[in-house]
Amino acid sequence: MIRLDESAAPGSEVGAVEVRRWEPFGLGDRLPFFGMWYTVPPGESSPRDCHPEVELSVVVDGTAHVDTGAEVTEVPRGSAFLLDSHEAHVIHNRSDRPLTIFSAYWWPDAAGAASAINEARAAADSATDTQTKEAAT
Ligand code: NI
Repeated sequence: MIRLDESAAPGSEVGAVEVRRWEPFGLGDRLPFFGMWYTVPPGESSPRDCHPEVELSVVVDGTAHVDTGAEVTEVPRGSAFLLDSHEAHVIHNRSDRPLTIFSAYWWPDAAGAASAINEARAAADSATDTQTKEAAT
């Protein structure tokens, strides 16, 4: 088990937002995604973000208002939201408490690679099952 302690990840400021990326944990190639926590102070918003990586975010504390330009969606603590590749987003904190979010993000090709690996495993398992059945008969 590797404990990933939020306080061990040094913060950097992106506009009003404090970002704590997972790079210092040195997980490198062990994970098929990148990770970070970020905190939006009360009454503040993140800078507009738009990138090729798909981004899965879990609200750790507070309530997020996720603005994709097309709509603003309220996401409470414990819920999550998924942003597609190149889907612009601004995260608003309309409350008087800090908003903290954990995000995992990855290149779209990584999901395709994971899917291909799962299909290959399923095919291998299926072949093993067949061999096991044949061996049993
Ligand atoms: Ni983003």
